[in-house]
Amino acid sequence: MKIFSGSANQKLGEKIAKILGTRLCHPEKFVFPDGEERVRILQKVLDQEVVVVEPLSPPVNENFVELLLIVDALRRNGAKKVTAVIPYLGYQRQDRMFRRGEAVSLLVVIKALEAVGVSRVITFDLHSIKIPEFFKIPVSHLSAVPLFAEKIKEMGLSGAILVAPDMGAVRRIKQLSEKLEGMPFTAIEKSRDLATGAVVSERINKLSSVKSFKNKTAIIVDDMISGGGTIVKAVELLKNEGFEKIFVFATHAVFSQNAPALLREIPVERVFVTDTIFVPREKRFSKLEILSVAQIIAENL
Ligand code: R5P
Repeated sequence: MKIFSGSANQKLGEKIAKILGTRLCHPEKFVFPDGEERVRILQKVLDQEVVVVEPLSPPVNENFVELLLIVDALRRNGAKKVTAVIPYLGYQRQDRMFRRGEAVSLLVVIKALEAVGVSRVITFDLHSIKIPEFFKIPVSHLSAVPLFAEKIKEMGLSGAILVAPDMGAVRRIKQLSEKLEGMPFTAIEKSRDLATGAVVSERINKLSSVKSFKNKTAIIVDDMISGGGTIVKAVELLKNEGFEKIFVFATHAVFSQNAPALLREIPVERVFVTDTIFVPREKRFSKLEILSVAQIIAENL
């Protein structure tokens, strides 16, 4: 099996290849002055099973087109099967028409992946568990929840309360709670202005087993941090409720706009993300810790 990587997350590709005892292959890449990209496969792939690692992280459209070109080139060179490891599936939040006149962008992405010849997709912590059903090809929907559970145990945070920053995150929080001997969990009611993207964290659900949140530790768990608005608003609300310490766990460090700057300033102990998306040096900050999903991917190839 040959492992290829596009440009979006070569470090993750290297880790996966190392675990599997092989070397990472790089397609030859050339960018024309007008921005068009040309890729070329130099290795022999005839009749082979091939893996391509490429999250659809920012710059989303460039990474997406690059992935399509690599898969097309692999197929034209005779690859028998192409597994696309897309640890972060961009466009997943546009999985339906929210307002009249919109495109269902995720379906466009899926059709394109299937059209160029992707045989299987491996991805992590999708926004909705229905998304794999939109594909005609097999999708392995993996999760960073076991990694988070391990870390929480390692840090000895047994008296903490898990917090879903919105109702969509409750399913994941329940899974994590099960792995942590039934750690209590609650959820924040959040709303978002569809036109501007502004987030409002309205209230936190009370827990019958917990009289007050005063001096407690909260562990916020979400699928992704994009612009950071969800986490910033959740932390504000939790602090107002009396929580003393707050830890943040999120699978995908999309870190768009000024998210790293916002996260640097909020009163949290640590922010844990995974390497489904490569976080460049300029977006890292002292409270940030990156956990690797490479082992989970290698075990599922
Ligand atoms: C939304 O439902 C997701 O689960 C995340 O909470 C959201 O996408 C995070 O985005 P942002 O960081 O821009 O608030």
